[in-house]
Amino acid sequence: MTATATTVVFTFDPGLEAVVEQEWQEHLLAAGWPMAEVRGTSHYGNGLLFLHQLVPGPALQKLVLNMRSIHYAYQLMGQFELDKAASWDRFEAALREIPIPALEAATSFRVSPERHGNHAFSSYDMAKAAGDYLRDRYQLPVDLENYSHNVRVDLRDRWGWVGVQLHPDRLSRRHRRRYQHRAALQPTVAYGLLRLTGLPEGMRGALLDPFCGSGTILIEAAALWPEMELYGTDLVPEVLDGAQRNLEAAGLETRVRLHDMDARQLPERFPSGRFRAIVTNPPYGLRLGRQLNLYWFYRDFLAAARQVLAIDGRLVLLVLKAELFRDVLRESGAWKVRHEQRLDAGGKHLRAFVLQPRDK
Ligand SMILES: C[S@@+](CC[C@H](N)C(=O)[O-])C[C@H]1O[C@@H](n2cnc3c(N)ncnc32)[C@H](O)[C@@H]1O
Repeated sequence: MTATATTVVFTFDPGLEAVVEQEWQEHLLAAGWPMAEVRGTSHYGNGLLFLHQLVPGPALQKLVLNMRSIHYAYQLMGQFELDKAASWDRFEAALREIPIPALEAATSFRVSPERHGNHAFSSYDMAKAAGDYLRDRYQLPVDLENYSHNVRVDLRDRWGWVGVQLHPDRLSRRHRRRYQHRAALQPTVAYGLLRLTGLPEGMRGALLDPFCGSGTILIEAAALWPEMELYGTDLVPEVLDGAQRNLEAAGLETRVRLHDMDARQLPERFPSGRFRAIVTNPPYGLRLGRQLNLYWFYRDFLAAARQVLAIDGRLVLLVLKAELFRDVLRESGAWKVRHEQRLDAGGKHLRAFVLQPRDK
């Protein structure tokens, strides 16, 4: 295959930039392609990366399907900048300046718009204008359901771009959930948390999600580390029942062991130093009610986790009230913070902490 220079736009949960870039570079390396280069147009902090590489289209599509940290990937066709007034005329003119060769072999298409910022027009106007124009230019029918090509038109303030999606469905919609937890993580965020442990491919040993909810982190861990023993606990029996059904739907019921228990009592069930990694998103403290004080909750959980985690193990957890959590960490003195990372998920600005036990 001859290599062609292509820029791919990845969309993901803001905060996962480094995880997405690393994952993509690993796929390129494994497939024997040169490393990608991050383009300056990437919007750090906005869940967007533009990565430029020498890879032909068909290979690109195959590689993209393996990505677990992203929602969408599309091949960049062209970029544009609107005038200061972000006028509609300039937007329409920009569309005409960007050819989409892939549509010459298409059987139908749709346009997916995304717009952020103040404009005198809507996302619907953008999709309609692009759809009308491309239909006439390429003599193609628009089909919103069974399209062969999905054209993405994005606008952030005055800066826009057009691309063709490299896969049919949203890549993060990959779990067949029989049970939907009201606070379930996106699989992409679960994957990101697991990668933040820094544990290598082919990892062995045991991993625990002590607030496992519907099992998202465990399902992602099973794919990432096929050799690891996986454990989940949750306080609510009906939730664990749901997790069990989700594991069954994923064919993982024999790989993961679930226990119905309070995460603050982990040492009563698991031996000291049992886990290589604990990766979890505990309750954020929004629905705990007055009877539960988040400070004491974190304090008791961290003490329990410290006992069952190996001395060189990693605890990765997602927190909403980062200030409070830092206070608990400081006062406990039992943890080294290896890394703290902003991560936006479920419409919340969260922090991921990567902790390692301090020698006693
Ligand atoms: C934010 S949710 C986890 C969602 C999960 N990551 C998912 O994707 O479905 C937190 C979970 O912690 C559980 N939980 C709350 N307090 C607990 C405790 N003391 N011990 C164990 N689990 C607890 C809740 O039942 C809930 O399922």
